Amino acid sequence: MTSANKHKVILHKVILDVDTGVDDALAILYALADPDIELLGITTCFGNVDVDTATENTLAVLHLAGARVPVYRGSAAPLLREWEGPVPWIHGDNGIGGARRPAHGRSAEAMDAMSFIREAVRRHPGEVTLVPVARMTNLAKAFAFDPELPGLVRRVVMMGGAAACPGNVTPVAEANIWGDPEAAQMVFASGVPITMVGLDVTMQARLTQAHLDTLTDSVPYASLLREAVGFYMNAYQRAQQSQEAWCALHDPLAVAMVSDPTLCRTERRHVAVETEGRLTAGMTVVDWRPAAPAAANADVCVSLDSARFLARFCERLGMQA
Ligand code: BDR
Ligand code: CA
Repeated sequence: MTSANKHKVILHKVILDVDTGVDDALAILYALADPDIELLGITTCFGNVDVDTATENTLAVLHLAGARVPVYRGSAAPLLREWEGPVPWIHGDNGIGGARRPAHGRSAEAMDAMSFIREAVRRHPGEVTLVPVARMTNLAKAFAFDPELPGLVRRVVMMGGAAACPGNVTPVAEANIWGDPEAAQMVFASGVPITMVGLDVTMQARLTQAHLDTLTDSVPYASLLREAVGFYMNAYQRAQQSQEAWCALHDPLAVAMVSDPTLCRTERRHVAVETEGRLTAGMTVVDWRPAAPAAANADVCVSLDSARFLARFCERLGMQA
């Protein structure tokens, strides 16, 4: 048990898989503040930034939060494809909007992310919730190496996909799926229980400049948040051609769905990932037909109680909703 989790009645053992990333940083802080989550470890992946930067950003966020959760470095590239590179126009050159990283003297653990996922799930059979908020490369590798693993995982609550809404990288594909569609398809086809927290709901989870303005100086990560989230909001404002400054809380919403699955309404559906289409690679193809031939493999989030989520998010991170 981590020091941040002492004295809590903890209901969910969680491994968070990140490509930190501004909203990943917010997801880490949210998980640390959730009294119902015991963070067993954080695994890292390429995505918003390269895997070493994601690892360094994760360690820096944990340091600022005063948490000694172990961090495990994971995949540097997709299973079968070339990595398309970082997205500095969304997350900044260093992945956290250019915010200064504090010196912390910590490193990632010697064990790699895939081995840690396997070891932790086998140590706590039926108890561990995996929360990938990045490409699902680490999970796919762990499942491929140990095919019994999906049957031992409590649930995967993943941020990714676009069930019945536009994508954010292509007209139909969301970034975490698009960045390694083969890995995502392996996870969806593995038989593991899945909650899919896609753009349908995460784009409704909007943090505004007005929220950020209420951030209290008493939280130790206040200046990192102001800078990182400010950068991320500018990126959203440009991309969404919006008058208002806001950003989507993609990754924190996936974490929130672990301990409060009533935040979103879900539908049980079959989901497959398109891995080949010239125009549709990375699409999450949800079978909405009443008599779908394939058995449902996911609880797909279709709507969000955004006021309740925002209230909880702001309270936990030192803001006012
Ligand atoms: C997802 O892609 C990344 O940019 C974010 O961190 C989030 O996990 C949103 O599509
Ligand atoms: Ca992410």
